[in-house]
Amino acid sequence: MDLKNKITRLKQEKNAIILAHYYQRPEIQEIADYVGDSLGLSQKAADTDADIIVFAGVHFMAETAKILNPTKTVLLPDLKAGCSLADSCPPVSFKKFKEQHPDHYVVTYINCSAEIKAMSDVVCTSSNAVQIVDAIPKDRPIIFAPDRNLGKYVARKTRRELLLWDGACEVHEAFSIDKLLTLYREYPKAKIIVHPESDEHLLTIANFIGSTAQLIEYVKKYPENDYIVATEAGILHKMQEAVPNTLLIPAPAKDDNSCACSECAFMKVNTLEKIYDCLRHGAPEIKLPEAVMGPALLPIQRMLEQSK
Ligand code: 13P
Ligand code: SF4
Repeated sequence: MDLKNKITRLKQEKNAIILAHYYQRPEIQEIADYVGDSLGLSQKAADTDADIIVFAGVHFMAETAKILNPTKTVLLPDLKAGCSLADSCPPVSFKKFKEQHPDHYVVTYINCSAEIKAMSDVVCTSSNAVQIVDAIPKDRPIIFAPDRNLGKYVARKTRRELLLWDGACEVHEAFSIDKLLTLYREYPKAKIIVHPESDEHLLTIANFIGSTAQLIEYVKKYPENDYIVATEAGILHKMQEAVPNTLLIPAPAKDDNSCACSECAFMKVNTLEKIYDCLRHGAPEIKLPEAVMGPALLPIQRMLEQSK
């Protein structure tokens, strides 16, 4: 029996669900029960009646699923699936930062550790950050962490002053504006679509800015255009499936790598073999202290409530 069939059989036997992010390898997206952006994945994790959640994504995503399902087993195929953005916000330093600004409402992007979520008033994703910040009373000062690029974008969109944590995603900061403009001269009719974790220079020249799911929705709406796509290259799998006749060009990264595009090494550590093994052995499992899970739940629930 091939690996895909073995995974499907095991999943049924164990009443497990596989949730996968758009940046996962294509073969993982193919066997997943649901593929989505961070918001969609959290909504699915909150709704599922499966006993086991296999999270084909990175650590902070699996942690969010665990916080929403403290009694369920949440498996991450490889615990090394971290996130440079989440790592850019260490809990000890963030605690001090928060204590220096006790009157501030704390909005944290979901790409952070459970400890940071536990220190937050509300969590957001790239698809609802503007809406979440907009809903905060105008006289309330706001801390936005950990992504400075998304933070600057949200500040511009909401016309609010945000106190930003200085964190970033190494994958989205790796795009080269010079190479992108050279590419654009080759494809002058192409629309440039960009994830808001990207550098301000890229956001300034973008025709559309959105979360992974919103970028896919956008190209589905206007399939007649060509696109230069500035986000992690894994998105091209589902995007191209949705618009098979549309030219999709991955935005070039500063350093040439094998695909000359940006890949998240953390997202790519998961493989079909590791998914099979984690289902078979019930490990590696996400475990979090009660003292973190309790306080981290409310800010996530607030986000889900405001995103219905
Ligand atoms: P979204 O899929 O929510 O846009 O997030 C992108 C990302 O970088 C996830 O790590
Ligand atoms: Fe983290 Fe960036 Fe990878 Fe997303 S793409 S998981 S933000 S390092």
